[in-house]
Amino acid sequence: MKQKLVFVTNNSHKLREVKEILDEKFDIVSLNDLGIDEEIPETADTLEGNALQKARFVHSRTQLNCFADDTGLEVEALEGAPGVYSARYAGENASFDDNMNKLLDALGENSKRKASFRTAIALILDDAEYLFEGSVEGIILNEKHGIDGFGYDPVFQPIEHNQSFAEMEASLKNSISHRGRAVKKLALFLLDKNE
Ligand code: IMP
Repeated sequence: MKQKLVFVTNNSHKLREVKEILDEKFDIVSLNDLGIDEEIPETADTLEGNALQKARFVHSRTQLNCFADDTGLEVEALEGAPGVYSARYAGENASFDDNMNKLLDALGENSKRKASFRTAIALILDDAEYLFEGSVEGIILNEKHGIDGFGYDPVFQPIEHNQSFAEMEASLKNSISHRGRAVKKLALFLLDKNE
């Protein structure tokens, strides 16, 4: 029987991405599946801190094995901003478009456009805590390209590729993305434990 593992998210894009990697061996359930609809605090000032905070919150409610992720887009010319504040870069209730527009404005015509996405994953398994990390380097495009994906996908183009994340096949994005890489580390760890 597959081992039940809670993914602390209600983001359907993320859930789909993660299930593609873990579904064969694990029964991945989301907050929706558990009927948890409270706002989970994310008040730490690092990605790792936020991921741990979210995992601990759900673990304390359910006692189930669970993992949570937190992602930031770190832009070199902006000294690592928006980073841990990526989701609310343009304000508390900012849309993906608001955030991308603010980023494109902040960079303007700047030719230095290096950026990386970084994901931290916190896992609570049998009451022990573990952290995993994944990142991908790329550039911020001058304008939005593509309509797939979510978040900053239309303005992020990974190095050695000529498409933005929003123009890519989901499976290609998954194979090189920050979250894909972090989830693969998580999967290797879990599969090893499960043997
Ligand atoms: P979160 O911490 O994973 O919720 O992500 C923080 C911010 O980064 C949000 O604005 C997300 O939309 C954005 N983000 C997270 N993952 C991705 C991704 O794979 N592509 C584009 N944007 C992302």
